Amino acid sequence: MSAVFPGSFDPITSGHMDVLTRAARIFDHVTVTVMHNARKRGHHLFDLEERVAILEEATRHLPNVSVDTFGGLLVDYMRLQNRSIIVRGLRAVSDYEYELQIAHLNRQLGDVETVFIMAATRWSFVSSSMVREIASYGGEVDEIVPQASAKALRLKFADVQRPE
Ligand code: PNS
Repeated sequence: MSAVFPGSFDPITSGHMDVLTRAARIFDHVTVTVMHNARKRGHHLFDLEERVAILEEATRHLPNVSVDTFGGLLVDYMRLQNRSIIVRGLRAVSDYEYELQIAHLNRQLGDVETVFIMAATRWSFVSSSMVREIASYGGEVDEIVPQASAKALRLKFADVQRPE
C-alpha cells in the first residue's frame, strides 16, 4: 500500500524526517509531495524547486520514498496519483485542531483517509518556521534538520549582514 506525505517542507526538519522514516516502514511506498499552504503564502524561504532538491537529497537513503510537487488541491493530487492515504505528523495537541479539520475536509472532498504519526517528543518543539528564524540569525540548526536542509540554509543566509 502506498501513501502520500504532503507538506510545505520549507525546509524539511528532523521532525518531518522522523515521521517520514516511520511511514516508510509501514507503507510499501511513500511519496513526499511539496505543496502550497495558503496560510503561509508569501512566507516561503525556499521556492518549490529548492524544496524538492533538498528533499531529494535528504531522502536519498530511503529506497521506497520518492519526491514530487503539486500546485493544486491535495485531493486532486490524490485522485490523479490514484492514492487514498495521506500521512501527517502530529507534534502536540496544538497541531490537532487544524489537522482534524483538514483531514475531515479531505475525506469529504476526496474520500481519502489521513493517518497520523506522532512525531518523537525529541522533535516536538521543531518547526520549519523556527528553523528559518534561527538560521536567519546565524544560529546552529544542524541538530534539528537533516544535513541537506542545513546546507541549503547556510547557503541562503551566507550573504546576510547581521548586527554585532
Ligand atoms: O507543512 P504544512 O504547511 O502544514 O502542509 C499543509 C499542506 C501543504 C499539506 C496543506 O496546506 C495542503 O494540503 N495544501 C494543498 C492545497 C489544499 O488541498 N488545501 C486544502 C486543505 S483542506
